[in-house]
Amino acid sequence: MEIQLWREILDPYTLAVNELLIKFNHIIDEFRHVGAYSPIEQVTGRVKTISSILEKAQKKNIDLANFEEKIEDIAGIRIICQFVEDIYKVVDIIKNRSDMRVKSEKDYIHHVKKSGYCSYHMIVYYDVETLKGKKEIQVEIQIRTLAMNFWATIEHSLQYKYKQNMPEHIRERLSSAAEAVIILDREMSVVRDEIMDAQNSFTVKANIVADILTNIQNLYKVLNKQEVIKIQDDFFRIYQSGNQEQLEKFGRELDLISQRYRAQSLH
Ligand code: GTP
Ligand code: MG
Repeated sequence: MEIQLWREILDPYTLAVNELLIKFNHIIDEFRHVGAYSPIEQVTGRVKTISSILEKAQKKNIDLANFEEKIEDIAGIRIICQFVEDIYKVVDIIKNRSDMRVKSEKDYIHHVKKSGYCSYHMIVYYDVETLKGKKEIQVEIQIRTLAMNFWATIEHSLQYKYKQNMPEHIRERLSSAAEAVIILDREMSVVRDEIMDAQNSFTVKANIVADILTNIQNLYKVLNKQEVIKIQDDFFRIYQSGNQEQLEKFGRELDLISQRYRAQSLH
């Protein structure tokens, strides 16, 4: 096949990868803009080179007439997460999107490969618009933790170096390194809960506000209008000042007032 023709074929794959990089990076931005923790740490992407497409086609006995269907990773996206839990959040995000349709999934985290390889793989269909109209592209999305990525990168370069002849002692080392990765990720998950606590002051605040509003609503039934309006004004003032400690104190005081009225109404 002529190089020009290859370019034409691969062009939409480049578009798909570029669009997806923008979209996944935008997800990171969306989380951060509301002050929330992003399950995606980093995204990279690539289009397979012509030579590695040819190599794979030969190795897997794929006819060049339908290589676009048979080679599922011409377009590849790699999503790196801090924690294992984040991987499954990303999987859900992808499944809930209307611009990607999942063709298949492989969970190499619950089913670690013999090599020790850990990762979550999805093949999705993604549409791009070209001058010739709509084209459906297959994209391989690999989702893994920083630690899994570290292992896969090293192992890949060793595989490349030794081809089929990786010395047994290196294979064994890689295998125990893979176990260490699993342990490291597990340890990190424990720490994660604490990190989350710190990062979640955002949700804590939302809950305090929700409680205050419920209390004010209930107080409307028992206090006179003037009193409730004063409480409401106090609340808005504190809320707008952005002082979380004061907001918490106000919430507690309001709780006490509400409790008192609730107690009275019980008698
Ligand atoms: P490929 O022919 O490589 O596409 O394998 P496959 O069709 O069986 O799919 P699989 O999900 O096993 O692998 C897809 C991709 O995952 C590979 O192209 C690699 O990028 C990565 N991968 C899979 N196994 C390993 C492994 O043992 N080590 C490393 N470093 N990467 C792996
Ligand atoms: Mg592959």
